[in-house]
Amino acid sequence: MNSLDAEIEKRARTVDDFLVRHFELFSTVDFLAPRLLVESMSYSLHTGGKRFRPVLALLVGEHYNQDLLQILPWAAAVELIHTYSLIHDDLPCMDNDDFRRGKPTNHKVYGEATALLAGDGLQTEAFQLLMKYYSQDAALACQLVERLCTAAGPQGMVGGQALDLQAEKVPPSLAELKQIQKLKTGMLIRVTLEGAALASGASKTTLWLLRYYGEALGLAFQIADDLLDAEQGDQSKSFVSLLGLDGTKELLLETSVKAKEFLNKLTQPNVFLLQLIDYNMNRKV
Ligand code: IPE
Ligand code: IPE
Ligand code: MG
Repeated sequence: MNSLDAEIEKRARTVDDFLVRHFELFSTVDFLAPRLLVESMSYSLHTGGKRFRPVLALLVGEHYNQDLLQILPWAAAVELIHTYSLIHDDLPCMDNDDFRRGKPTNHKVYGEATALLAGDGLQTEAFQLLMKYYSQDAALACQLVERLCTAAGPQGMVGGQALDLQAEKVPPSLAELKQIQKLKTGMLIRVTLEGAALASGASKTTLWLLRYYGEALGLAFQIADDLLDAEQGDQSKSFVSLLGLDGTKELLLETSVKAKEFLNKLTQPNVFLLQLIDYNMNRKV
């Protein structure tokens, strides 16, 4: 494991611990959530996700010397939304996938109905977390909820999923594919950074630069994902089907350079956030 991988891993474990502790609440007598539902929610939360988004959030918080607890609930809330989106994405009515991260998908283990509810439960729990940890700063809590709703909802991830479904019928152009990915994947990554910057009290200029960095990184993340999928033989609705392997690698490089340019405009660019761009370019999972 190289040193960047070790740094990512360390922060990913911090997120894991927080989520485990949060879920312990469900087994206390005051909570009435059914055991099987909680088990199904936990299953997808702890089956080897990279924690890319929460790690981004933690890095922003560290850059501003924030207490971990000022950022961790935000980071965890984003991961809950991400996990819910994957459970629903794998359902038979969506991508109908049997495996994710090398393990059976949620509905393969718990059945479709419970998987659907687990996704719903994770989504609402994300907002519960924000209310629980940020309500002492009502203005911040409202901003975080607003950003997360925008990123996850019809103008963001859910909207992107709807466009993705349409693209199954009519193959998208490059511009249309970029728009799908911007909503489906890019928004949550961008907003993860913005929320962490807001919780860190960053300046408006920083917020904008992190937003542009996030937008470019979000697109680069999806392009890298398409390249990985192509290695597994899946090129449907992807940059690879439109641009070929070499063209897609070029687009990945171009987009990554753009992400670096935005970050380098910050007075003190964060080294890890810069390195994450290369990490994404070279990732194997
Ligand atoms: C996979 O996201 C789906 C996309 C949005 C491309 P990740 O690659 O972050 O998934 P995990 O959580 O690490 O498995
Ligand atoms: C992932 O989309 C789901 C969301 C972004 C909501 P994809 O269908 O493109 O990604 P994988 O291949 O299932 O991870
Ligand atoms: Mg899918």
